[in-house]
Amino acid sequence: MSDFTHGFWSLFVAGVTLAGIVACLLLLWVTARKKVAARSDNTTGHVWDEDLTEMNNPLPLWWVGMFILTIVFGLLYLVAYPGLGSYEGEMRWTQKAEYEAEVAQADRELEPLYAQFTARKPEELAADPNAMAIGERLFMNNCAQCHGSDARGSKGFPNLADRDWLHGGAPDKIVETITKGRVGTMPPMAAAVGSPDDVKNVANYVLSLSNAPHDSVRAQLGRSKFTACAACHGNDGKGNPALGAPNLTDDIWLHGWGEQAIVSMVNNGKTNEMPAQAGKLTDAQIHVLGSYVWSLSNPLPLARP
Ligand code: HEC
Ligand code: HEC
Repeated sequence: MSDFTHGFWSLFVAGVTLAGIVACLLLLWVTARKKVAARSDNTTGHVWDEDLTEMNNPLPLWWVGMFILTIVFGLLYLVAYPGLGSYEGEMRWTQKAEYEAEVAQADRELEPLYAQFTARKPEELAADPNAMAIGERLFMNNCAQCHGSDARGSKGFPNLADRDWLHGGAPDKIVETITKGRVGTMPPMAAAVGSPDDVKNVANYVLSLSNAPHDSVRAQLGRSKFTACAACHGNDGKGNPALGAPNLTDDIWLHGWGEQAIVSMVNNGKTNEMPAQAGKLTDAQIHVLGSYVWSLSNPLPLARP
């Protein structure tokens, strides 16, 4: 189904399509009736390339037949398939349904392959080169556009190859993140902190937590203001995976580094979303992906026979 903004456009498109077909028929009819005055030698008088003369013969019957056949084909096609504005066509065919049927078919064919993977724990699967090759392919197709092809992320998109986790890095947590998605929300906190100066002070206190360059006088003053942040980031600033609140003491920054970035976080807050993959990917694919992501920050136990 096409999504026209107004019913008029549906009629317009259908009208132009049908008018085109009718015009083809008219062209055939008119040229068949109109007699061009031919010379006595049955040429039109047009000459090209010095000696190529144009004859005035009627169109061959087989050609006219083909022409009419294509028009009949076109009309039947437009009855069967969507082509006239928002008319769905008698076959009710859609690209989306065809795509979904193909995906379902592929999923069915791959089921036996995945069955041997789902039977194993993610930690074991991480040692299976076949499973990891499939995991990498799935990652490239579904995750790399946000997390990067090396899974190291970028501003706003977390690095999945380190041991710093917003929502937890155990295999079951990773699988949960991929299946259901995650939303990390930090509300604007300026009002709870106080004046713009207070916000600067608390930002310097946050920087001091990871020993990043900071103004130590401001950090001292900002310390007491951090109580407004502790509910989510913890008294010690080490974060809380249940809320997706990042560890502020590790010098790993998802939304930019430095006083300015932190002041802007406090003033504006942030909502960051990882889209749920359930429905897009099968449970088995997510199982393999979870294992692949886990393996990135958990190198293989050495010496496997
Ligand atoms: C549209 C962009 C987008 C896509 C596609 C995407 N992600 Fe994410 N992902 C995010 C964002 C943004 C976050 C951070 C959410 C937050 O801040 O709480 C995230 C978070 C995560 C986390 C949690 C990281 C942590 O530190 O706890 C994991 C694991 C993850 N993604 C894996 C995946 C996998 C696997 C795929 C592919 C199936 C994927 N993501 C596809 C945007 C995306
Ligand atoms: C209601 C919970 C909540 C409160 C209160 C809160 N935060 Fe946050 N904060 C979060 C969450 C959740 C994120 C991660 C957002 C995301 O998923 O990208 C975050 C992210 C941040 C970041 C970005 C970290 C990075 O790696 O880039 C900074 C800095 C930060 N908070 C500072 C503060 C400060 C300072 C306060 C107090 C004034 C505060 N937060 C209060 C929940 C909270």
